[in-house]
Amino acid sequence: MDCDFASYEALKSIAQARKSCRTFSSRPLDDDILQKVLDVAMLSPYASGRKNWTVRIIKDGETILNAAELVQAHCKVLSADVREDMRDSFEAYAENFVAFKTAPVLLVTEFRVMPALSLMLGGSEEVGRWERENFIKSISCVSMLILLAAESLNLGACCMTGPLLAHDGLARLFKIKESREIGAIIALGYKSQEINNG
Ligand SMILES: Cc1cc2nc3c(=O)[nH]c(=O)nc-3n(C[C@H](O)[C@H](O)[C@H](O)COP(=O)(O)O)c2cc1C
Repeated sequence: MDCDFASYEALKSIAQARKSCRTFSSRPLDDDILQKVLDVAMLSPYASGRKNWTVRIIKDGETILNAAELVQAHCKVLSADVREDMRDSFEAYAENFVAFKTAPVLLVTEFRVMPALSLMLGGSEEVGRWERENFIKSISCVSMLILLAAESLNLGACCMTGPLLAHDGLARLFKIKESREIGAIIALGYKSQEINNG
């Protein structure tokens, strides 16, 4: 079959236009638009033939603000242990960990580590690490598809792992089962006017 250059150009222009969005319009995201993003995410490939991941949708504004407060509080605790001459840089950097706070929706990619080969090999730590990394790589593919789907709809999105410094608190807030881990938090919404005009 011949190459489809029109599809390639369309994909390339979406990939080129995509930039992390950290300021969102207050306009809520309609469910049908959100579903379009999720429909693409669900097509993601996965390692070892095991689709052990899902995407949790957080739309409640109070939960999103609570998540930002939780991350901020955790970073404050961490900051106390940062070398004094580096503390200001750490705190400036950590501001990016709550860049999701104006987003109307958070897509929380979550996965479960399911050991198989490592068990067959008598609990091999090395193979266990490899398996875990495979699950993390799989969930990263999901994030990438979400970002591209968002951009194709002219939505703003930002894939974030900074907030996961407060992983356990966030997992409790988002009611994620103990056996599961968060891969990333993807802030999603309409881009703010500022960015659109920028
Ligand atoms: C795995 C991963 C984690 C990231 N975590 C954060 C984050 O915590 N906060 C943030 O503001 N941006 C985060 N980003 C976005 C990057 O900062 C951004 O992709 C990078 O600076 C390139 O800019 P661009 O996305 O606009 O092309 C993350 C990106 C990736 C891929």
